[in-house]
Amino acid sequence: MDNCFATPAVQQPIQFGADLVLHSATKFIDGQGRVLGGVVVGKKELIKEMYLFIRNTGPSMSPFNAWVLSKSLETLYVRMDRHAENALSLARALQDHPQISRVKYPYLESHPQYAVAKKQMSNGGGIVTFELKGGVESGRKFLDALQILSMTNNLGDSRSIASHPASTTHSKLSEAERQEVGITPGLIRISVGLEHIDDILADIRQALDQC
Ligand SMILES: Cc1ncc(COP(=O)(O)O)c(C=O)c1O
Repeated sequence: MDNCFATPAVQQPIQFGADLVLHSATKFIDGQGRVLGGVVVGKKELIKEMYLFIRNTGPSMSPFNAWVLSKSLETLYVRMDRHAENALSLARALQDHPQISRVKYPYLESHPQYAVAKKQMSNGGGIVTFELKGGVESGRKFLDALQILSMTNNLGDSRSIASHPASTTHSKLSEAERQEVGITPGLIRISVGLEHIDDILADIRQALDQC
């Protein structure tokens, strides 16, 4: 189970029967885009198998990265609460926007797995996606018009990040291949940061006005 988006502060999959849980600690666990790291948690016998591979190939974390990440854990719960509070406010605010056809966030009543999310997540996490009615062209214009949100391939940072996979990370795939993995032409993903919600909303609204 990839628990990157939720983090252990929001959801603990081993309680629901997962054998192995993975985190890219580079994301919300670090929370400020400073270091690379990863975590695997799970059943002893499965970890043991990996341990031999890790010992032979050497993907060891530096003491400095380990120190940064251990300091980050001290604020993880507080940060995730704020990421989620901002994300829910953003998701609700965008629901009826005339240029948006659909907003997806686990703690929105309209999400197909809302009941599951409410049952096993302590909040909805920090990632919101929405669909621009104007497709790829609108997606490009939206990204170009942003002033506060950044465009990077990371997520889970204290700063809000926007991505438009159809024109960036997944632009080399064919339209059909993108559809197959759920990347529609106007899909925008926001990793909602810790800024004041009014600043996040103002930037997204002014960028939507320019699409
Ligand atoms: C959900 C999810 N899992 C795993 C990864 C992989 O992260 P890393 O490249 O740090 O291993 C990413 C990267 O974006 C991700 O978004």
